[in-house]
Amino acid sequence: MCGIAGYTGKRKASEVVVDGLALLEYRGYDSAGIALFNGQGNLQITKKAGFVSHLKKAVYGKEGCCGIGHTRWATHGIANETNCHPHCHGKFCIVHNGIIENFATLKKSLQKKGKKFLSQTDTEVVAVLLDEFYKGDVLDALGKVAKLLKGSFAIAILCHDFCDRIYFLKKGSPLIVGVGQGENFVASDQLAFVHYTDNVVFLKDNEMGYADSNNVFVFDFCKNKKVLHVEKSNAKADNVAKPPKSFMHKEIFEIPKALRMTANDFFNDEYKKQKAIDIFSKNDKVIMIGCGTAYNACLVGKLVWEKVLHVSAEVDLASEFRYKNPLVSKGTLVVAVSQSGETADTLRATKLAKSKGADVVVITNVAHSSITKNADLVLHTKAGQEVAVAATKSYATQVLLFLCIACVLSKDSKAVKEIKKQIDDLPYLATKALLCDTVVAKKAKEFCKKQGTFFVGRGLDFPLAIEGSLKLKEISYMHSQGFAAGELKHGSIALVDKNVLVVGIITQKKVAEKTINALHEVSCRGAKVLVVTQFDKMANEAGCHDVIKLPGATDLLMPILAVIPLQLFAYHVSVARGINPDKPRNLAKSVTVE
Ligand code: M6R
Repeated sequence: MCGIAGYTGKRKASEVVVDGLALLEYRGYDSAGIALFNGQGNLQITKKAGFVSHLKKAVYGKEGCCGIGHTRWATHGIANETNCHPHCHGKFCIVHNGIIENFATLKKSLQKKGKKFLSQTDTEVVAVLLDEFYKGDVLDALGKVAKLLKGSFAIAILCHDFCDRIYFLKKGSPLIVGVGQGENFVASDQLAFVHYTDNVVFLKDNEMGYADSNNVFVFDFCKNKKVLHVEKSNAKADNVAKPPKSFMHKEIFEIPKALRMTANDFFNDEYKKQKAIDIFSKNDKVIMIGCGTAYNACLVGKLVWEKVLHVSAEVDLASEFRYKNPLVSKGTLVVAVSQSGETADTLRATKLAKSKGADVVVITNVAHSSITKNADLVLHTKAGQEVAVAATKSYATQVLLFLCIACVLSKDSKAVKEIKKQIDDLPYLATKALLCDTVVAKKAKEFCKKQGTFFVGRGLDFPLAIEGSLKLKEISYMHSQGFAAGELKHGSIALVDKNVLVVGIITQKKVAEKTINALHEVSCRGAKVLVVTQFDKMANEAGCHDVIKLPGATDLLMPILAVIPLQLFAYHVSVARGINPDKPRNLAKSVTVE
């Protein structure tokens, strides 16, 4: 969480930094701040609670060619201006992404020495420590402080004695240097400087250094100089242009393209397909891990692999897996799914699996993301940049990749031929599914004042119910829960009355009738029922009040198609309740803290 953007060169740093921060708001938007060296070498700090747009107004026209900025997702201390970054002490001013786990101990010992703290943040302790250790050599102080810190950190630093330099420090959280001509950039994501340069250095853990307008130097924490690896950025400026409605709506409508790109990329890569076969044949146990929507994609992946490959797989939340001494060893395949590739729990869980001898296949949307460093095989969802906090097109492509992998691993050539044909049709079917947008918007308006919503489904519709529910609560703040359709009557049906909406997902032929039973049970207790189905007949039989009709397709494709109306429903309920669906409260796109 949190985004860092820094600039040193000849341009107005206030503009470059603030525009960069706006592109990083997906990492958090509780507050935003900037530190600028003005032409006379004085440091000017500006902080604002709330969105980067508030900061932009406040720094408009400010002079200075070197500065660092930060957009915050609060971890320690409420989201006000005092806790907003940058945090300064003595000669140092810093912005930080990550968590300093031992900050309380460090703070206590510094307070005993008489040091004064202004904020409740873990970050401020680093500024105080740097000032304490600084004896004229910034790198020396950085190295010493880095060795004291526990946890994860990406930190950009200004020091009063070097007013054209941005110093940096990295362990566990992403930090990237953009290399320009007569100007350089430091940021949490290449996106921040996508308009200026496509030459990037992906800093590694335990690295530090500094950039001025003409040079970039990288060292380890013992001040040994490292060779600079400049690579070409894969971020694209056109992916981040603000759409007329919202990023979320735009991204849902990009699902057909994302599906086509993902399938083509996978099936055309002979190396990756062969590697998948090799890895799979070496292992006799499969565990899939992820968080949030990526976890829900794993739940689908498990059922798809069971159906197509007849292998059983375990699915675990990455945040649980990593703390339970998981039964992983040589012979275990761990499939880690993460859109961003930066989710702290998934990263650490993947590292743990690797250290226990597992083979690790990573499914991610971001090439070069941290999670790719621990993988034996990286499979890319080609969804393109996903800006809205809610995962939409990335989920569809994650599920698709599970299906694609199953095709390559299956020995049943007849079944594979059939599935592949359906995958070819998927973009067309998804385009058809998107036609429900207007109907869904109408239903969303009608139901947006309900007290709560249950999503129910069986088989492959069950994980879909969980995902539909996550999406709704995340961006509309309406309470909701996803259930296996048969489970409601074992307790939770007590919550059902006329104030509740039940969304029944019926896409799986074999169990459709059974889900209908569950819908009858809630309908006769006063609940409104909305059915999402590919079967006309089922909708009528359910005695339900409303139906969203999906294009017909094979059961295996339905988790990809049926998620579309669920995502659109969440989006329209959010809008109807006056919420910004792209930036729901308390959240950030990328959860890089534990
Ligand atoms: O980047 P990741 O896929 O690892 O992110 C995992 C979750 O934080 C993410 O899917 C989250 O649940 C979404 N905001 C849900 O829409």
